[in-house]
Amino acid sequence: MRGSRQAPAMGKSTSFGRKEQETAWKNAEVDALYQLVAADVRVPRPLGYFDGVLIMELVTDAAGDPAPRLGEVELSAETALDYHAFLIRQVVRMLCLGLIHGDLSEFNVLVAPDGPVIIDLPQAVNAAGNNAALALLERDINNLRTTLGRFAPELLATEFAREMWALFEQGELRPDSVLTGAFARDEALVDPDGVMLVIEDAREEEIQRQLRLAS
Ligand SMILES: Nc1ncnc2c1ncn2[C@@H]1O[C@H](COP(=O)(O)OP(=O)(O)O)[C@@H](O)[C@H]1O
Ligand SMILES: [Mg+2]
Repeated sequence: MRGSRQAPAMGKSTSFGRKEQETAWKNAEVDALYQLVAADVRVPRPLGYFDGVLIMELVTDAAGDPAPRLGEVELSAETALDYHAFLIRQVVRMLCLGLIHGDLSEFNVLVAPDGPVIIDLPQAVNAAGNNAALALLERDINNLRTTLGRFAPELLATEFAREMWALFEQGELRPDSVLTGAFARDEALVDPDGVMLVIEDAREEEIQRQLRLAS
């Protein structure tokens, strides 16, 4: 059953009807899964939602057992680079739908024989109108960088989040947008734009600090 956190509340459910519960669940994860499958993001295929239970594809390894998590496998540098490029593309496709995973990490990516599968989406957040969106996106992407950078250290110098975000904010992010992983910050002499950038950075750092405190 999805979400042990909510399960107790569902037990004493006289004031919170089944219909509302199901609607809440659907809003949280089921809708996201259907949307993501339609956008060709590799997530478990949702099979239905029955009596408060979300049924989804079991992601397996080659032997048919539940697939290991990304943090549990040893990878060659080449495979780590492949997985990283693949996962960044999945994050781009999600962001094109206006969605940020929000808890993307080595624990929430499974490794199937045909590559990584992103799971655990109940807290996927809407990017638009969310002040913490960039901080969440950066955290997700930096988690991937740290995990896969253990096998391919060149990944540690990459900066995909801001590049992706800049395109998203300009309404120019597409599922196949080419990203470089290098984000040029303005290093010219101080100008109003530069000052604004610094202020924005400070604001983002504060948001990240609050996220850390909250988690
Ligand atoms: N579709 C799936 N196929 C195989 N294993 C899964 C699947 N969904 C979840 N798991 C396993 O269950 C664990 C917990 O699921 P997850 O969705 O991450 O919930 P949470 O982290 O909120 O407990 C995952 O780390 C993974 O090992
Ligand atoms: Mg999880």
